[in-house]
Amino acid sequence: MSLCQKIGLGTAQWGMLYGIANRNGQPNREEISEMLSCAYQRGISIIDTACSYGEAEEILGEERASSLGFNVVTKTIPIRGSSISKEDVALVSSAFDESLKRMQTGRVYGMLIHNVDNLLSDGGERLWAVLEEFKACGSVEKIGVSVYHPQQLDDIMSRYEIDIVQFPYNIYDQRFAQTGLLEKLQMAGIETHARSAFLQGLIFMSPENMPDYFDSIRMRQAKLHNELSKSGLSPLDGCLSYCLNQPYIDKIIVGCETLGQLTQILKIAEKSPSSLPELESYAINDEKVVDPSRWEI
Ligand SMILES: NC(=O)c1ccc[n+]([C@@H]2O[C@H](COP(=O)([O-])OP(=O)(O)OC[C@H]3O[C@@H](n4cnc5c(N)ncnc54)[C@H](OP(=O)(O)O)[C@@H]3O)[C@@H](O)[C@H]2O)c1
Repeated sequence: MSLCQKIGLGTAQWGMLYGIANRNGQPNREEISEMLSCAYQRGISIIDTACSYGEAEEILGEERASSLGFNVVTKTIPIRGSSISKEDVALVSSAFDESLKRMQTGRVYGMLIHNVDNLLSDGGERLWAVLEEFKACGSVEKIGVSVYHPQQLDDIMSRYEIDIVQFPYNIYDQRFAQTGLLEKLQMAGIETHARSAFLQGLIFMSPENMPDYFDSIRMRQAKLHNELSKSGLSPLDGCLSYCLNQPYIDKIIVGCETLGQLTQILKIAEKSPSSLPELESYAINDEKVVDPSRWEI
């Protein structure tokens, strides 16, 4: 069975320059157009973006992603400060209007709170109320959160009825599966999007090329590559199949800078997911390693 439809496209690397393993830079407009038409033909429906991803929303607007039929998920502007005021809510609302204008559409599939601590802080319910308004007036179909730690998701689920959640998940970052949260999300009927399947491409790097910051996992990476290779699998096969095999995840959001990367991914997803060696033992619980926002490189 083809699992291409389980793939979603990330756009962080389209709108700005980033990524530890990114040797291609920001893709040009032609490359992005080709990736979008390939995605469309192969049944990819979800595109993940955010107003903080540089020009990404604008590019999606110019490429008419929404009118082509893609389900776009975007995110709120982050609010700095320890509480949410009425003024903050007005800012979120006008920023969403701007996002819609940039994307040249009147509605999106999903709207996620990008800085989930905003929802958990004083006045967070005001912020949620504005998302509920977006949903009630039809400019958003599903509302939810983007989270970084399992505890954040637990706290959110006890306070808000979310429709959709995005969280990191990969061979090294198994925190959301280990805590039983994936089953809980499934039981609650919440749509699940996993990001960071390749940990910015770190998992593909040959161990000797990893920056010194990752000394603590260099041996582990060598062992992982070796074990996958013995099963006839590349690191990309392993990373993607690991996520595709997870039954409680609805979409795997992948970041690509080139059409070549996207076609490689779709080729793997097209086959039944590979049977994998045991990978649970590769889990790393050190957030300084599994959370790219904490990398000191
Ligand atoms: N065949 C291949 O070799 C191949 C194929 C595909 C991909 N790749 C590599 O893999 C990379 C994508 O990896 P991935 O899909 O696992 O995604 P990822 O880069 O690990 O995760 C994407 C998420 O990282 C966060 N992010 C955005 N800007 C960031 C920044 N400046 N610093 C840190 N994090 C940031 C964003 O989430 P938040 O907004 O929520 O923070 C974004 O949604 C590509 O860039 C490419 O280099 C290689």
